[in-house]
Amino acid sequence: MESKAACVNGHNRAMWMLTVVPLAASVATMPPIVPRPVEYARQQGAFEFSWDTEVIYADGLQSEAEHLARFLRSATGFPVPTIQGSQGDGNDVLLRIARARDRDPLGEEGYRLEVEPQGIAIEGATPAGVFYGIQTLKQMLPAEALRRSDQPRSWQVPAARVVDWPRFSWRGMHLDVSRHFFPPEFLKRFLDLMALYKFNVFHWHLVDDGGWRMESLRYPLLTERGAWRDAPKRGEWSQAALSFPERRDGDEYGGYYTRREIREIVAYAASLHITIVPEIEMPGHTLPSIVCYPELACDPPGANQNVYCAGSEKTFEFLENILEETLDLFPSKYIHIGGDEVYKGWWANCRRCQERMERENLHSLDELQSYFIRRIDAFLTEHGRTLIGWDEILEGGLAPNASVMSWRGVEGGIEAVRQNRHAVMCPTSHCYFDYSYATTPTEEVYEFDPVPDEIPEGAAYLILGAQGNLWTEWMPTEDRVLYMAFPRALALAEAVWTPKERKDLEDFLARLNEHYARLDALRVPYRLPSPVPAGPTLTFDDAMTVAFAPAPPGMVIRYTTDGTPPTRSSTRYQKPFEIRAGTVLRAAMFTLDGEQPSDEIRVACVSPKGERPADLVPGIQYSTYLGSWSRLPDFSRLSPAETGVTDRVGVHVKPREEQYGIRFEGFLEVVEDGEYEFRLGSDDGSVLRIAGATVVDHDGLHAYVERSVRVKMKRGVYPFVLDFFEQGGADSVSLRIEGPAPVRFLRSRG
Ligand code: ACM
Ligand code: ZN
Repeated sequence: MESKAACVNGHNRAMWMLTVVPLAASVATMPPIVPRPVEYARQQGAFEFSWDTEVIYADGLQSEAEHLARFLRSATGFPVPTIQGSQGDGNDVLLRIARARDRDPLGEEGYRLEVEPQGIAIEGATPAGVFYGIQTLKQMLPAEALRRSDQPRSWQVPAARVVDWPRFSWRGMHLDVSRHFFPPEFLKRFLDLMALYKFNVFHWHLVDDGGWRMESLRYPLLTERGAWRDAPKRGEWSQAALSFPERRDGDEYGGYYTRREIREIVAYAASLHITIVPEIEMPGHTLPSIVCYPELACDPPGANQNVYCAGSEKTFEFLENILEETLDLFPSKYIHIGGDEVYKGWWANCRRCQERMERENLHSLDELQSYFIRRIDAFLTEHGRTLIGWDEILEGGLAPNASVMSWRGVEGGIEAVRQNRHAVMCPTSHCYFDYSYATTPTEEVYEFDPVPDEIPEGAAYLILGAQGNLWTEWMPTEDRVLYMAFPRALALAEAVWTPKERKDLEDFLARLNEHYARLDALRVPYRLPSPVPAGPTLTFDDAMTVAFAPAPPGMVIRYTTDGTPPTRSSTRYQKPFEIRAGTVLRAAMFTLDGEQPSDEIRVACVSPKGERPADLVPGIQYSTYLGSWSRLPDFSRLSPAETGVTDRVGVHVKPREEQYGIRFEGFLEVVEDGEYEFRLGSDDGSVLRIAGATVVDHDGLHAYVERSVRVKMKRGVYPFVLDFFEQGGADSVSLRIEGPAPVRFLRSRG
C-alpha cells in the first residue's frame, strides 16, 4: 500500500476503499449530466465538500488531480490540496487507474465514479477515463458551483454509482480560423468547453482562402503576407474582396499563430485529453499560399488561382516541407489535408498538369486529384501518420491509407467503410453549426446517428465518430462562434457518447434546460430557445389571442407591444391574452436572471381592410438593382436596373452581376379563410411583407436560411413585397405557400 506523500492532520479518520459493485439498471433522479452516462444508479445519502477535502491521486494522475482541484477550489472556496497516495481517509476524492481485472467494460476512455457519503472515487483504465469521470462529477454539482465565490460553500453531491464509456472514439469539434481569426486565449476557452462535454478531437482548420494561420520557418511569407487580407470592413467576410496586399498599411484583417503558440495550444489540449487534428488544405482552398509563392500556380497561372498546380514538383516539395513542420508541431495520428471543392479548370488548361496526366496515365482530372492525394498519403504514411480528407478524396480512387471525413451527406462515409476504411461523419444535414438554428435545430443534431443503416453491423467499428463544424465566414466574433456552437454542441456530445438505446430527446431537453444556467455561469453566449407561439404569428383580423407554449424550467417569456425590443424588465408572459388590430407584439425568452434575450418572435394583428385594386392580372412584378450591401437597402429609393414580370419568386430573373438586389411585388389572392404557411428561404438576405406587416425577416449576410411562418388570413387580396439581395457567392431565394386553398400571385396591369 502506498502512503500519503503529504502529512495530513493527525486525528483518526475512517478508512474506505473503492469497491466495484454491479449497477442497478434504473436511473432515478439523475443530475443533469450531458452526455448521459451509460449507467447511473442513485445511492443513499450525499457527499459534502469541506475544509478537509483533498484530491488524492495515484498512478501518475497528477494532471487530472490538479484539474479537479482547481475546479473544486473555485467552486467551494476550500483549499482542496492534491496529494499523491492510493487511499482516502474520509471526505476525499480519490483518483486512480483501474486494476486490469476491473477494466471491463470501461475500454480506453471509460470510468467508474462512486460517490459515497464518506468519499468519492474515480477510476478509469487510462488517465482519459479518469478525466471524464471528473467531468461527470463537476456536472453533479449545481450550476452555481461554476461561479467563483469568496465565501466557502459546502456543496453536496448525491451518492451514486456511475459506470460510463463513450460510443465513439472521435468526438470532435471543428473551427475555421481562416475566414475569421480567433486568438489563442479563445481557443483555450473553446477547448475548456469541449472538455466539459467530453469531446476529444479539435479539428483546427488552419488554412483556407481567407488567410494562412500557421507560422512556417521555411516559408515566412505565408504569415507575413498570407495571414493579412484586405477586407471591405474590418473583420467582415467578403469572398469578392480576398486579396493579400504586398505591403500592409495596418487596415488589413488577419492574424496567425506562432509556432510557440501552437505548441502551447497543443499541450493545453492534451492536458484536457483533446487531440488537435490540424488541417492543411490542399489542393484547393488555398489562395494565400499561392499569392505568396506564385510558383505553386499552374502554367499559365489562373487569376486568383486557389488550387496548387498538380503537375509541378515545386508543389510537392512545398507541401512536404510544410507537412514536415506540421508533424513537428502536432503529435496527432491523423493529419487532415482538406481535398474538398477543388476547381480543376486550372489543371485542364495547364501545360504541366497535362504532361503529368500523360506521363502517369491519368484519364481524368479526378484521377489527377487522386494522384495528388496518393503522393501526400504516401508521405504521411512514411512518417507514421494517417491522412484524413473531405469526402471528395474518394473521387478518382481513394489513396491506400486514407480515411474519409464525410460532409456532403453520409454517403462518403458509407463508401469509405465499403472500402474497409475509417470514416468520420459530419454531414451538412446535422453537423454544420454555421447553418442557422432554423435550418439545423438542436433537436435535429441530437437525433444524429453517425452509423447509418447502410453500414453492416460488423463494419460499424470503421466509423470513428462524428464532429460539429464551425465555418466562420459569418462568424466574425468569438461570441458568434459560441452562439452557433451552443447548445448544439451538447446535443452532438450526447450523439457521439451515449449508446443509441439510451438516448432520449425529451430527457435531453430537460437536462439541457439545467445546462443553460451552467453556460450562463461560464459566460457562454448560447442560443436560448425562442418562445414557441401556440398559434399563427400574423393574423389579419380585428383582434387575436396571443398564446405561447410554456417556457422551459428556469426561463421566462417577456414581451412588449410598443415596438421596442423585449428586455429583462419587460412584461412577463403568464397566460393567453388578446391584442387588437394594429398591434405588433415582440417576445423573447430569458433565463430567470439573464440579460440576454433569445431570438425574437413577433406576433402581429393587422386589420384585413383594403379594397381589391382594379385591373389585376396573374404574375409578379419584379425590379432588379445593382449595388453591394450588407443589409437590404430601401429599394424604393433606388433606380432599378431592369423591371419585368415573372410567375414565381427566384433568382432566375437576376442580373449578370455578382452583387445585386431584387424586389418582387404584387398581390396575393386568398380564396378561402384559414391558416397559411409561408416558407421563405434565401442566401443572402430577404424580407417578406404582407400588407405592410413583416412576415419573415432574413435580412443580413448569411448562408442559406429557411423559415416558415403561419398566417391567419381571410378571403381577399393582400399586397405583398419580397426584397432580396446577394453579396456574391451562392445565391438563392424561394417562397412556398401552403394552405387550405392555392394562393395566386397577381399584379396590376400596365
Ligand atoms: C466543406 O464544407 N467544404 C468541407
Ligand atoms: Zn498545373
